Amino acid sequence: MTDKVVLVTGGGFSPDQAGSGLGQSMCVELASEGAKVVVADLSLERAEATATQVREAGGDALAVAADGRHRRVHGHTIPVDGGSPIR
Ligand SMILES: NC(=O)c1ccc[n+]([C@@H]2O[C@H](COP(=O)([O-])OP(=O)(O)OC[C@H]3O[C@@H](n4cnc5c(N)ncnc54)[C@H](O)[C@@H]3O)[C@@H](O)[C@H]2O)c1
Repeated sequence: MTDKVVLVTGGGFSPDQAGSGLGQSMCVELASEGAKVVVADLSLERAEATATQVREAGGDALAVAADGRHRRVHGHTIPVDGGSPIR
């Protein structure tokens, strides 16, 4: 996965509203394999929580607020070093 850029929708988590954290676990695992992870979640706060966890483990992550039900990420262009922008 080294230098691959992966977008995970529903990748956020909240310590206060803990679910099973499927997306969060994917983000952590993918980053541990060398991927650069874009953590997309309806809640930017939840996305940031996962991105922080990834970074604290030495990985590379960017948090964005996005609705995974939409094919496009609401007009955002996500710059990721070493990867193509995700539109
Ligand atoms: N098949 C199984 O065995 C199994 C087991 C557990 C969970 N699940 C399912 O997997 C899903 C995730 O469960 P979880 O426990 O990891 O939940 P979770 O609450 O830990 O995480 C889900 C995240 O997705 C985000 N989210 C919700 N809708 C979104 C959208 N439209 N766009 C972007 N982000 C969105 C939420 O804000 C939340 O941060 C649920 O649908 C759950 O029912 C299936």
